[in-house]
Amino acid sequence: MTNILVLHGPNLNLLGQREPDLYGKVGLEEINFALRELAGQHDSEIRTVQSNHEGTLIDALHEAQGWADGILINPGAFTHTSYALRDALAAIGIPCVEVHLSNIYARETFRHKSVIAPVCLGQISGFGWRSYTLGFVALLEFINEKG
Ligand code: DQA
Repeated sequence: MTNILVLHGPNLNLLGQREPDLYGKVGLEEINFALRELAGQHDSEIRTVQSNHEGTLIDALHEAQGWADGILINPGAFTHTSYALRDALAAIGIPCVEVHLSNIYARETFRHKSVIAPVCLGQISGFGWRSYTLGFVALLEFINEKG
């Protein structure tokens, strides 16, 4: 059994209604449902956390120590600003994949830099809700290959 923490950062609770041209019409619950289904097909379990607060996301990462084998994270705007979130990921040392619904490199220049990506295995950006499922499968394959 592979345990994955799925972390959603600020404003992602509004998915579905928030700037649908950029982020799509699929809501956060639907994304979590799709991930849970996928997990079930891969002998995996997920726990999901969404927060608009940096400290809550960091606490969730600390608490993942001891049970999580991997982290799937969409840090929202904290992607571009949060050294604290990056340090938390580096500190716990659990394999992590960063995902974005939109292609952050095709948007405003302030979104072109992720301070989180250097402490992740990799990043998937621009495939809408599918970024999550693609990232999830990539993370599971990496973890399982390492045994
Ligand atoms: C986002 C991209 C970020 O730049 C933005 O602040 C978000 C969503 C995405 O999934 O495309 O909140 O992480």
